[in-house]
Amino acid sequence: MAEEEIKKGLDGVVVDYTAVSKVNPDTNSLLYRGYPVQELAATRSFEEVAYLLWNGELPSSGELADFTARERAGRPLDPVVKQVIDALPTTAHPMDVCRTAASVMGARHELAEDSSREANMAKALDLFASMPAVVAYDQRRRRGQDPVEPRDDLGYSANFLWMTFGEEAVAEVVEAFNVSMILYAEHSFNASTFAGRVIMSTLSDLHSAVTGAIGALKGPLHGGANEAVMHTFDEIGIRPEESLEEAADRAKAWMENALAQKKKVMGFGHRVYKHGDSRVPTMKAALDKMIAHYGRPELLGLYNGLESAMDEAKGIKPNLDYPAGPTYHLMGFDTNMFTPLFVASRITGWTAHFMEQLNANSLIRPLSAYNGPDERHVP
Ligand code: COA
Repeated sequence: MAEEEIKKGLDGVVVDYTAVSKVNPDTNSLLYRGYPVQELAATRSFEEVAYLLWNGELPSSGELADFTARERAGRPLDPVVKQVIDALPTTAHPMDVCRTAASVMGARHELAEDSSREANMAKALDLFASMPAVVAYDQRRRRGQDPVEPRDDLGYSANFLWMTFGEEAVAEVVEAFNVSMILYAEHSFNASTFAGRVIMSTLSDLHSAVTGAIGALKGPLHGGANEAVMHTFDEIGIRPEESLEEAADRAKAWMENALAQKKKVMGFGHRVYKHGDSRVPTMKAALDKMIAHYGRPELLGLYNGLESAMDEAKGIKPNLDYPAGPTYHLMGFDTNMFTPLFVASRITGWTAHFMEQLNANSLIRPLSAYNGPDERHVP
């Protein structure tokens, strides 16, 4: 096979149809089931967006009430999942904990071997409802804090923050968190979604596909970038007493040095968007509100300094992980919990894709060009 026929990384290859979302890099737009993600983030709850991704339409008020009641009922963590998490060392990355929890939930699901549409919807809803408890439970155990039980009088985002921090978050923080969940929910055939679709295409089960997708999301070239952004900020040094300008100057110098050393700086660049990520302006607006809320202008200085230095040197724009990282930091999440937050959100988009894959399935099995030794015989 000629070398030019190989598309490394499947770059530019259209693999299948999807009706879940449309990414248009030319117009920097992202539609979930036809709706601009910015409009959804400005007006809707994450629960409504989850319903939309799974059902193709926004819920009526009656449908939302029913959906919300089911989600709230599914929040408490299975005691066996808690035991398994407790058995994992705190040296394990929280993404390993999420991956293990998803796998245990699959093995224990009452509909484990049922892959009907109804069973898969129930499984997707169970994962969506209980993954926040996994993340919150894990952060608290790592901090030596007792777990906080979910509350059924709070929406998804408010309850997530409640279970993690043990106190009710103010409306502004809940709103910024809700925006981040909506923006992270879905992004067409990204690496983790595609990995899960490959698993689903073998007629494996939904939890196996989610477990595989979590593994794919962990890498710093994908979801792990939001965590890596915070490591960059830490390396430059977060100095709350510093002015915005001073922080920006230090960040610029850091970026110039990193680029001179040909380093890849996480949180910048995208395989599909080459003129900027459609989700960044909305997430950046949420970050701005959090910076004002917590009174931390120096973080904006670091943000601006890195962004402008990268733009001047290479014209590469930030991706969603860039504003999301410092937003989660300000809210009080530990850095290694950032990618699990992405998991909690992306479960919605993943499972919408996995059900779509099953609806019109064809085993995903590409070809390879062999470049090993010619045929030879065992001496
Ligand atoms: N920092 C520095 N340089 C970068 C860069 C970054 N974050 N992203 C891309 N580039 C440069 C590459 O070095 C390469 O330069 P070259 O042509 O001089 O070698 C060029 O831009 C193309 O990059 P490439 O990695 O081949 O593009 P891609 O489409 O395969 O990669 C990513 C897309 C996302 C993997 C890449 O931009 C990246 O690694 N970003 C950092 C990780 C990240 O934030 N991931 C989250 C994505 S939502």
